[in-house]
Amino acid sequence: MATNQTFTMIKPDAVQDGHTGAIIKMIEEAGFRIVAIKKTQLTAERAGQFYAVHRDRPFYNDLRAYMSSGPIVPMILEKENAVADFRKLIGATNPAQAEEGTIRKLYAKSIEANAIHGSDSDENAQIEGSFFFAATEQF
Ligand code: CMP
Repeated sequence: MATNQTFTMIKPDAVQDGHTGAIIKMIEEAGFRIVAIKKTQLTAERAGQFYAVHRDRPFYNDLRAYMSSGPIVPMILEKENAVADFRKLIGATNPAQAEEGTIRKLYAKSIEANAIHGSDSDENAQIEGSFFFAATEQF
């Protein structure tokens, strides 16, 4: 059964360009409640751990460098059907394929610097949320 939480982070390009507030506004207006939020910066090593599932992909080293290049804003979000609804809100990984009105269509620069992350399953939402937030911070 679907849980009601997902994990997201606003990525370095979008934070650097001053889109944090606009993106959070879209998230809240879409009905998501923010359970946990902070601004932080990953080391290349931690970025590599977060994206370890992609370690054999050709873009892995670039992704580690990009994701540690500046501050990010990770969040745990709550809403019914959170994972699927959030992926609809952010749009396709490649902004060239993202639907009009999605966060990536509006703010992503490229397939790598694509403004925002969204968990792809309930299980990963839980794992990724725990990567950034201790359980005690979520209550
Ligand atoms: P995200 O949804 O956070 O998951 C993996 C990330 O890898 C993706 O967003 C992009 O930031 C990055 N990436 C870079 N190149 C590619 C690619 N060719 N295909 C998929 N993801 C890529």
